[in-house]
Amino acid sequence: MKFFSSVLVTGGAGFIGSHLVDELVGRNYKVIVLDNFRSGRVENVSHHLESDGFRLVEGDVRDRKVVGDVMDGIDAVVHLAALIDVEDSVNNPIETHRVNVTGTLNVLEEAVRNDVGRFVFASSTAVYGEVKPLPLKEDCPLKPMSPYAVSKASAESYCRAFCRSYGLETVILRYFNVYGPRQEHNPYSGVITKFLSNASRGEPLVVYGDGEQTRDFIQIGDVVDATVLALESDNLVGETFNVCTGKPTTINELTRIVKEATGKNLQIKHDKPRKGDIKNNYGNPAKAEKILGFRAGVSLRKGLERFESSCIGHS
Ligand SMILES: NC(=O)c1ccc[n+]([C@@H]2O[C@H](COP(=O)([O-])OP(=O)(O)OC[C@H]3O[C@@H](n4cnc5c(N)ncnc54)[C@H](O)[C@@H]3O)[C@@H](O)[C@H]2O)c1
Repeated sequence: MKFFSSVLVTGGAGFIGSHLVDELVGRNYKVIVLDNFRSGRVENVSHHLESDGFRLVEGDVRDRKVVGDVMDGIDAVVHLAALIDVEDSVNNPIETHRVNVTGTLNVLEEAVRNDVGRFVFASSTAVYGEVKPLPLKEDCPLKPMSPYAVSKASAESYCRAFCRSYGLETVILRYFNVYGPRQEHNPYSGVITKFLSNASRGEPLVVYGDGEQTRDFIQIGDVVDATVLALESDNLVGETFNVCTGKPTTINELTRIVKEATGKNLQIKHDKPRKGDIKNNYGNPAKAEKILGFRAGVSLRKGLERFESSCIGHS
């Protein structure tokens, strides 16, 4: 087990980042968040502002000087800051590249310059594209389909290159479809967040395409557990892990589970498939289980019930 005392979390005011920050502060890490609030919110981390050892810095990962300043005295980095929307990346690939690739390169370079002991990178299942056979294993060939997916695959390659060239201890996590409280609700948010938000207003659930596409939905608490393991465990250097449940769910099944969990008889509306969307996607969790010691523990039904009750709690 590694023990780091100070961790930089880029994108720490966002959905996944803020939950990770809660856990790290709870474990007495000194935590610095670097976030430009593009999609993150101060409210997600404001409950830590008075905590000893917590610092929130507004800044951009594209700004090398800011990245260098926040890295001073840091032992470990979890790099989550990114533009995450697939459709947006199709409309504006250069911006996605600048944040997700050049931004990652800045963070990697400053991590090496500051002798950081562990660098955990948040990649995505999107890097696989329409690869077969399913479930997806970490050593599958990558066929990224959208500029977002390409940006994550490129940033992964930089992480591997920095591990080999400079001995930086990188660990790559390929998150699958993460859901839970604080996920932004906007036209591009995750399908579970959208469905629960529509359900709370009694509005129809919108299904793109025939609804038979599959996803591997993983609850935020499980994702935080996997990320902390990636930060603290020994013998992971240069490794890549799926962070998934291994269970495929179709969007049509999801609509049924949402109806049951909310107890609402919601209408289903079909719309045309979205640009850049993958048809079938679910992961093989065996490597993460064996090497990282990670196993997703929250079922979709349970995770949805928890998420729904937290939405009601905040409305
Ligand atoms: N949510 C998912 O299902 C999922 C799946 C796979 C991978 N991921 C990856 O996990 C990471 C976190 O995703 P999330 O769902 O929490 O999204 P999010 O949008 O809530 O978090 C991203 C954070 O990065 C910040 N950010 C964006 N551009 C920045 C910049 N130029 N400089 C500094 N900060 C910047 C945003 O303000 C936000 O706080 C991302 O790298 C994403 O690609 C997420």
